[in-house]
Formats: sequence, structure tokens, C-alpha cells
Amino acid sequence: MFGMKLKWYPLFESESELENLFAVKKTAIHKSIFGEVLLVKNDSGYHAFKNKCAHQNKPLNGCWTEDNSIVCPFHKYHFDIDSGQGHGTYIDKYELRFVDAKVEIGKEIWSVFN
Ligand code: FES
Repeated sequence: MFGMKLKWYPLFESESELENLFAVKKTAIHKSIFGEVLLVKNDSGYHAFKNKCAHQNKPLNGCWTEDNSIVCPFHKYHFDIDSGQGHGTYIDKYELRFVDAKVEIGKEIWSVFN
């Protein structure tokens, strides 16, 4: 009866709003009703993460990418963009989906209704 369910939240009204964030760099911090999210672009597409470094819970504002990693600006820890893993821990990663040209972000929640 109880179980995990993916709940979807609106993030952008159009895909071009998302694309515009990446005009000059490959990372962006975005605030929405979902909260503050780190968005990253690489060759496989867009990725969304909780804006908290797994090392000391500091925000990832000012992070950058190297190879296929996010680099935290505080102590330069690297976290894999595809999995969020690095240094024996991980950054929470969220799913993105494109629905009717809008962009939504998914978060797992506990639910009594499946
Ligand atoms: S707070 Fe991010 S590496 Fe230390």
C-alpha cells in the first residue's frame, strides 16, 4: 500500500527557457516552487541536482564541470554528472521530463496511493 512515487513539479514553461540558462556556461542555479536546483548540461543532455554538496552541505553555486563531473567550488570534490556519486557519497539527483514543450522535475515521495 505504501510506496515511493515520483511527483512532478513544473520547472520551465518552455524548453527554450532551460536552454537560455546555458548560453555561456554548463551549470546554473534555478529557483522555482520546487526549491533551488543545480542544473547541469553535458553531451547526454540536462541534469538536475539538489543544490547541496554532499561533503559539507554547502550550496553548489559557482560550481563548474570538468570531464563528466561537477566540481564543488569549496574543496574541489568531483561528483559524476550521470550518477551524482563522488568521494563515497552522492549529490541527490532529480529526473527531468519534457511534457508539451514544458520542463518538469520529479522527486520521489512516500505515498499511500500507488
Ligand atoms: S563543501 Fe563541497 S567539496 Fe567540500
